[in-house]
Amino acid sequence: MRTMEQLGMKALRSVDPEISHGLAIKALQMGVAHAPGEITSARLHTSVAGLDLPNPIGIAAGFDKNATALKGLAKSGFGFAEVGAATPRAQPGNPKPRLFRLVEDQAAINRFGFNNDGMEAIAARLASRPPKGVIGLNLGANKDSDDRAADFAKVLAHCGAHLDFATVNVSSPNTEKLRDLQGKAALSALLTGVVTTRDGLSRKIPVFLKIAPDLTDAELAEIAEVAVETGVDAIIATNTTLSRDGLQSAHKDQAGGLSGKPLFEKSTRVLARLSQLTKGNLPLIGVGGVGSAEDAYAKICAGASVVQVYTALVYGGFSLGEDIIRGLDALLKKDGFANVAEAVGTKREDWL
Ligand code: FNR
Repeated sequence: MRTMEQLGMKALRSVDPEISHGLAIKALQMGVAHAPGEITSARLHTSVAGLDLPNPIGIAAGFDKNATALKGLAKSGFGFAEVGAATPRAQPGNPKPRLFRLVEDQAAINRFGFNNDGMEAIAARLASRPPKGVIGLNLGANKDSDDRAADFAKVLAHCGAHLDFATVNVSSPNTEKLRDLQGKAALSALLTGVVTTRDGLSRKIPVFLKIAPDLTDAELAEIAEVAVETGVDAIIATNTTLSRDGLQSAHKDQAGGLSGKPLFEKSTRVLARLSQLTKGNLPLIGVGGVGSAEDAYAKICAGASVVQVYTALVYGGFSLGEDIIRGLDALLKKDGFANVAEAVGTKREDWL
């Protein structure tokens, strides 16, 4: 971490986590966050589901929920950014406090509950996005919706023209019963609706499905089958977990989804299992507990074509993104890989 950033991060950690997150967004908006610009090389340059990326490390959903820091994110060095979750109508989310730092565990628990400005405000911001850079939107459903499954397609129809990809998020633990949409019949109907909406867009962007880490083997197999059948372009594994295994921090019993270091192993095992189930034929995006170049490399070797990061940035600052990307380049080189794609799935068996 750079010295100025280190001081800033120390100050940020002394304030309430949600306020601190707001300040990090402000820093991106004002152009005072770490901004190395595009980071790429012949080894890092890659693609997933038809998206051409300068490097395989992206920023995960939930960081820029309202797409208010797109310009700052474009300069942050990440290969791609997923903003949102966006729901059709604006909603306040759960009462505060709803974000907790678990410092000893290098983790976080959140129960935001899809607080966001709604698809109209978010689409307006996406319409004036920077032309360079790959930006996707995490699609969500309103808590009080009569038809949650239809909400995902609604947001995609409204925002799709400004996007490079969209993610169906049925895996947030913070909207009651949302995860029930991961069941076979419900998921199949929902994804069919979203894919049909995508097919009607003027630009046919890829659609991703983001899943929870707390699924049984049988549930994972069903999801993989439905994803292939409905024509989803990639699966993002995983969202936050309900598990609290092995935690030490004072906030460990807060309700919500756990992210960060303790999620790494669980989410990587789900990723490897999915890679096995889909025989490496469906691109996978690995997310959960990545805090170093070694972690990102492990996700790739377990089967991920590209990787996303969130919670580690709370502890390591934005310069950690650059360190992960450059470190990954060095690790690929050390092992004799000419590019990211060559390394994908090479150590899958270690995680099964
Ligand atoms: C998230 N995450 C998330 N995911 C999603 O699909 N839609 C969302 O709106 C959010 N919101 C959100 C808020 C906060 C505060 C956190 C910490 C996380 C989950 C996130 O994208 C990612 O899947 C997990 O956090 C695991 O990755 P990390 O954080 O361990 O790198």
